[in-house]
Amino acid sequence: MLSASVTMLGTMTVLVGYSSKYGATEGIAERIASVLRDFGIPTDARRVASVRNVSDYSVCIVGSSSYLGSWRPEASRFVRRYRSELATRPVWLFSSGPLGIAQTGAQHLREVTEARPKQFDEFVETIRPRGTQVFYGALYPERLDRRDRLVRKMPAGFEILPAGDFREWGAIEAWATGISGELVHTFAETK
Ligand SMILES: Cc1cc2nc3c(=O)[nH]c(=O)nc-3n(C[C@H](O)[C@H](O)[C@H](O)COP(=O)(O)O)c2cc1C
Repeated sequence: MLSASVTMLGTMTVLVGYSSKYGATEGIAERIASVLRDFGIPTDARRVASVRNVSDYSVCIVGSSSYLGSWRPEASRFVRRYRSELATRPVWLFSSGPLGIAQTGAQHLREVTEARPKQFDEFVETIRPRGTQVFYGALYPERLDRRDRLVRKMPAGFEILPAGDFREWGAIEAWATGISGELVHTFAETK
């Protein structure tokens, strides 16, 4: 049974397509891809802008950082452009955004819920992903462009957008492990 699922997994390639302005989301995408590869699942982590053909992939995981409540435009464009291909494949979406260390479970839940990018409702409707997830992100002040530095200087900006790396690697790996389990199961069943 195990050898049958490994054979089936060999015939599928997963795309982890991402949009990352300063590198935080790229790191999350790379970690997700590495977990899938540990399960023997062939996986490419690529910037969405460099993906030419979604049909090359049997499964797509798409992620972007969120700025002012929205996914980055190139990530939204990607999902809209390939809507029909994505709607016929297993798809998961993730977003990286909230910053800081939540003091309580309730605060964590509230921050993750509030950071859900506004495009997720549309994409749930159009491509019916198997899951959507928001992860805490990272902010490196020295990398910010002029506009983002100015946004941070607005009232409460430094509180809402603290500097640091708040990515929760355990939660990211657990999510990727869940997807890997589903894929092993699904592709073994099609055998
Ligand atoms: C100007 C600015 C606005 C931001 N707005 C949001 C936001 O609305 N929601 C959110 O969850 N995170 C927000 N963030 C945090 C980023 O999404 C977070 O730093 C993310 O991990 C950055 O990923 P990247 O380096 O891959 O672009 C903002 C960050 C900056 C600098």
